[in-house]
Amino acid sequence: MLISFDKDMELGNELIDTQHRMLIMLLKKLDIALKRQLSHKVIMGILLEIKKFTEFHFLCEENMMYELKYPEVTKHEKIHSGLLFQLDIIIAKVNRKQMFADETLDMLYKWVTAHAMHDDARIVDHIKNHGFLPVAEEKHGLYLE
Ligand SMILES: [Fe+2]
Ligand SMILES: [Fe+2]
Repeated sequence: MLISFDKDMELGNELIDTQHRMLIMLLKKLDIALKRQLSHKVIMGILLEIKKFTEFHFLCEENMMYELKYPEVTKHEKIHSGLLFQLDIIIAKVNRKQMFADETLDMLYKWVTAHAMHDDARIVDHIKNHGFLPVAEEKHGLYLE
């Protein structure tokens, strides 16, 4: 499977898009580490980076949804919790060597892209339809200058 930032993942919100790019970058890192057959410890370390960054990203989105009074925030939070639960199971299986990490990569890539394109796209539509920016978004351009 080719790990890349699919154009369809570009939702038009700078903060969310930047974080999704970062997640894809971490998945590419895992892909390269697997192809180079790096040690189990290195692979587990990258999976931990993915987990921590995913937790951070989900919290950012949840804070943004509360700030914007997004009506489906509870539903979206439940989806996030479910994804983190799945990620924990995957990581535990890889750790016990019950799951090939290649298979893990495919699953992670599918859940990141599907969630972004189906669920996160709805948050971005909400932002666009209401014409207001969350505070982090207003300042985001400044951070990147
Ligand atoms: Fe997201
Ligand atoms: Fe999300």
